[in-house]
Amino acid sequence: MSVTIVDHPLAQIRLSIMRDEATRRPEFRRALHELSTFLMYEALRGLPLTTVDLDSPMGPTSGVVCPDPPVVVPVMRAGLGMLDAALDLLPDARVGFVGLKRNEETLLPHAYVNTVPDDLGGRPVIVLDPMLATGGSLIHTCQLLAESGAGPMTVVCALAAPEGIEAVTTLGLNLSLYTGSIDDRLNDVGFILPGLGDAGDRQFGLN
Ligand code: PRP
Repeated sequence: MSVTIVDHPLAQIRLSIMRDEATRRPEFRRALHELSTFLMYEALRGLPLTTVDLDSPMGPTSGVVCPDPPVVVPVMRAGLGMLDAALDLLPDARVGFVGLKRNEETLLPHAYVNTVPDDLGGRPVIVLDPMLATGGSLIHTCQLLAESGAGPMTVVCALAAPEGIEAVTTLGLNLSLYTGSIDDRLNDVGFILPGLGDAGDRQFGLN
């Protein structure tokens, strides 16, 4: 698994806004949206392109298009906050939703939604989830995607824990990770330290 930390200042400013406990829901969602744009920008450097002929006002030339973009898979809930940014950049992309909930006692995820197409036919997939903590959710998602015939998988997350990266690495999947940070560690209930709390609750929670 390759791991890329997107250390651009504009990305780190948004991540800092997200970490700050004083940041309220609207600003948190906006920072995640903007951070997602920067993370996706880096994650899409290898986007497969096709050359096309076109006419500029000055005459014939060539350009590029992306006729078959990756399938985008937001992991619900929290990954929903990254979807608009991904679709701004890949407006033609198909979207498969995976809804996972982590059991707070066992820390293991289970899927309550899976709309990933049955036969991905080796297509590249981009997984969106703000947090990679124990890695249980991502491993579960990657297993669902592999069963559906996914090709190369790119994971985009706001931040990751070393323990989660280690767990995912042991799978031996063809996987690339783009993150805003690799934080220090997990606490004893599986939250990232220093982290940002729970990205789902901070976007959509009632408190
Ligand atoms: C969070 C987060 C990831 C997962 C990471 O989701 O958005 O999906 O936990 O933890 P893991 O690496 O240990 O699996 P959560 O289970 O809180 O659900 P939510 O998105 O609905 O808030």
